[in-house]
Amino acid sequence: MLNVAILISGGGSNMQRLLEDMARPHPGRARLVLSNRPEAGGLAKAEAMGVATEVLDHRSFGDDRAQFETELHKILLAYKIDVICLAGFMRILGADFVSAWQGRMLNIHPSLLPKYQGLYTHRRALEAGDRLAGCSVHEVVPQLDAGPVLGYSEVPILPGDTAQDLADRVLVQEHLLYPKILRAFLSRFEPPS
Ligand code: GRF
Repeated sequence: MLNVAILISGGGSNMQRLLEDMARPHPGRARLVLSNRPEAGGLAKAEAMGVATEVLDHRSFGDDRAQFETELHKILLAYKIDVICLAGFMRILGADFVSAWQGRMLNIHPSLLPKYQGLYTHRRALEAGDRLAGCSVHEVVPQLDAGPVLGYSEVPILPGDTAQDLADRVLVQEHLLYPKILRAFLSRFEPPS
């Protein structure tokens, strides 16, 4: 059984879908939900589902990103984590941390990668006049939102859509895609020897 950590910063709706899926027969076990924000709504949801939670408040590290990541790494090792899922985790992780977890860390991004890496993906898709938007699950590599895409879902962009309309439509697909991809990823995963 592979130990999974989910890293969040906010409401954790993707986290919730991953936890619900892992409550069924699954190659992974939800071992930890960690937030960099103490006020993240997802923490209470995880606790209600009986999953261990930790808070590592990035603000207490000031500008020292390396120290934040050193502490994060220690916590993940303490929980014997095999695979990390970033799910609305709004901190960019440095190359040392990412390299240590490369091949064992997934993220969901609300665009059809490689389009619209970074923030404001829905607004940018609308401004570009795209007809399709969507979400992608990818492996995390040091370059932002640039790792191998493991799966994606498309949604139409409809006339009159606002960025919020589009975000809502994409989020429905995120909730279906991420559990499906995590399941497939873990069933092929070979822990490092
Ligand atoms: C999702 O749209 C995710 O793709 C993005 O942030 C949002 C998080 O939503 N990175 P939630 O916290 O999972 O509800």
